[in-house]
Amino acid sequence: MKILIKNGRVIDPSKKIDETLDILIENGQIKLLEKNINDTDAEIYDAKGLVVAPGFIDMHVHLREPGLEAKEDINTGTKSAAAGGFTTVACMPNTRPTIDSAIVVEGVIKQAETIGVVNVKVIGSLSKGLEGKELSEIGDMIQAGAVAISDDGGDSLCNTQLIRTGFEYTDMFNKVIISHAEDMYMVHDTYMHEGAVSAMLGIKGRPCVAEDIAASRDILLAEYTNAALHIAHVSSKRTVELIREAKKRGVKVTAEATPHHLTLTDENLKTFDTAFKVNPPLRSKEHVEALLEGLKDGTIDAIATDHAPHAFEEKDVEFRYAPSGFAGLETAVGVILTELYHTNKFTLNEIIEKFTVNPAKILDIKAGTLEIGSKADLTILDPDFEWTVDSNNFYTKGKASPFNDRKLKGKAVATVVGGNFVMKAGDILV
Ligand code: DOR
Repeated sequence: MKILIKNGRVIDPSKKIDETLDILIENGQIKLLEKNINDTDAEIYDAKGLVVAPGFIDMHVHLREPGLEAKEDINTGTKSAAAGGFTTVACMPNTRPTIDSAIVVEGVIKQAETIGVVNVKVIGSLSKGLEGKELSEIGDMIQAGAVAISDDGGDSLCNTQLIRTGFEYTDMFNKVIISHAEDMYMVHDTYMHEGAVSAMLGIKGRPCVAEDIAASRDILLAEYTNAALHIAHVSSKRTVELIREAKKRGVKVTAEATPHHLTLTDENLKTFDTAFKVNPPLRSKEHVEALLEGLKDGTIDAIATDHAPHAFEEKDVEFRYAPSGFAGLETAVGVILTELYHTNKFTLNEIIEKFTVNPAKILDIKAGTLEIGSKADLTILDPDFEWTVDSNNFYTKGKASPFNDRKLKGKAVATVVGGNFVMKAGDILV
């Protein structure tokens, strides 16, 4: 099977490529990348006017399998990824059972090979059952294929000694700990960002200092153990500053921001729409501006969705009782192109870097590049495609989206995984 992608604007930040080129894919690999390739045996895809990039990586998704299939399963979650233009996703361990042992890691990898539509990387938990008491089988999980370790989705850890030992283990295997940085005690029984809007609504808020305290704790522990730390879904201005300072000191810290934290504020919660409820919460404008600055200057390395689908009936309750999180895979590219590219804040090169080479480096996985001989994972974008989000058409089971009904400009129009089209014009082909 050969595919020839012709006349696209090829942007690959890993190779500093930005020019009109053809790409020949053969046996699932990138075979040739040059001008005017001809091959009469190949299936031709005309990418004139489109952008061809290395396959996008979402390093933070919740696929919910095993055990929480009413919210999502690996088939629907990876279809959602393919529809959104992602070729690789890394899934979080807050499943039932928790991904805290080698056997569960192996099970998820096998299931993804069987029913997955894109590449699935597995993140194992730091503590058994996400309880923050006892370390999970970190070494065994990494040997079974886990690419990183995280207690995201549990109550954020407060057991500093456990985190320290976790860093010592992950460092032995050159893996990263991904931190959901929120101090558990400060966010208990809170529902949105603490600020003027929460005061006006009379809702108990989650203060940004809860994130700053947890982020500084994790940065100090990473510095002390000289191990690698990645801070997930940064939402607070001070946390951006803490990461910036730590990077300057040479601490091995990286960070991600989500499309929702980069573009929405707590003002959106005035309607009490549970589709905007998420942890960490949507914050005020000054925080959003600090995130954009951090993304621009490289303090924030990656864009990740924190795709966290829930069943319709779980979200369709009074604000206070709704679970936090919503689907993100099918809107991420459109939201980022609309709000960051079409506003001239970021170039396509900068955006593609945050979705490809940077997350690949953080997770230390072979992806995010169009290098000759590498696996042919590609994302094809139409930066000017205008569309309106309708979450009823999502492939994910989680239909709640803070971007529902939004008019967006820009979309992934084809996704290639291992040399096969898995999505074309929004349709899943497998
Ligand atoms: O809002 C959230 N939902 N934040 C998280 O960190 C976890 C996620 C979930 O698993 O539902």
